[in-house]
Amino acid sequence: MPDLRSAAEPELHAEPNDQAPAPRAVNNAAPFVLADRVAIVTGASRGIGRAIAESLAAAGAAVVVVGRRAETLAPVADGIVASGGRSIAVAANAGAPDAFAAVAEAAVAAFGGIDILVNNAGTCPHYGPIVTADDGVWDKTMDVNVRGPLRSVAACLPAFRARGGGKVIHVASVAGLMPQPSVGLYCVSKAALLMLTEVLAVELAADNVQVNAVAPGFVKTRFSQAIWDAPASATGALAVIPQRRFADPSEIVGAVLYLAGPLSSFTTGATLVVDGGQRLAAGLPLAGG
Ligand SMILES: NC(=O)c1ccc[n+]([C@@H]2O[C@H](COP(=O)([O-])OP(=O)(O)OC[C@H]3O[C@@H](n4cnc5c(N)ncnc54)[C@H](OP(=O)(O)O)[C@@H]3O)[C@@H](O)[C@H]2O)c1
Repeated sequence: MPDLRSAAEPELHAEPNDQAPAPRAVNNAAPFVLADRVAIVTGASRGIGRAIAESLAAAGAAVVVVGRRAETLAPVADGIVASGGRSIAVAANAGAPDAFAAVAEAAVAAFGGIDILVNNAGTCPHYGPIVTADDGVWDKTMDVNVRGPLRSVAACLPAFRARGGGKVIHVASVAGLMPQPSVGLYCVSKAALLMLTEVLAVELAADNVQVNAVAPGFVKTRFSQAIWDAPASATGALAVIPQRRFADPSEIVGAVLYLAGPLSSFTTGATLVVDGGQRLAAGLPLAGG
């Protein structure tokens, strides 16, 4: 069998890495405390991102909240500070090519480093058969849902290395694990985000950066309002969720807190599905559905 690897391809480390930094110790009395950590959360002005930002802050992390509009971000940062936490708001478009350098700089300037990056901002601008999606919606979907997360990781990497490691959490979707009607392009982008998670997990392991994903099912936010707000579509959606309800944004937070903290020190490239059983029921008629 010929050796097909190019000379430039990095070797996988077969030997234990004695230089690898030790994982941060777990405080068993308070395993979710993030007191000395700095987190960035994109899409944090409302919905799942806001719940994640507020929970990371409640756990003690300083939180940089990111979204496109300063006026909707400021109340989130102000609310965290009013509750005794640390937070700043930075307006940035997660899909813009050079947006994240300024976000990373602001985090380091305000709080001295970066430990946790939650790529939560997402978009779904095309509804209908994927063959009808034009280049414009392809570009927007892939820029926000895939290239933005990649660029943000690249922008944070020097700060992660300076701290001896980091945690990246991608908010993907069960739509990246199984096709969903009318949102095929979104499904493709979330599947790409899950593979990006795995690729980065392998490539950044030597830097002690763990990269994981959370895949929510239906969550009651503005993003999914067209589904839960209309009786016919809500009934159809509930028919494929064994737990028979939509999630509250707060129910996505537990998975993120685990992946952001010291308990997940040996977890990388994983996808935590938080969907009320939806993925297991795919294609199966549910009793009473
Ligand atoms: N809701 C669900 O059922 C569900 C299920 C599975 C996965 N998800 C995923 O969960 C994530 C959050 O969704 P959500 O339901 O919480 O949505 P949401 O309530 O509509 O909130 C979206 C957030 O993202 C921000 N945002 C949107 N586009 C952005 C961009 N280009 N750059 C920066 N910020 C941007 C929005 O603020 P601005 O508009 O001010 O920028 C807002 O803060 C998304 O990745 C979504 O795909 C949602």
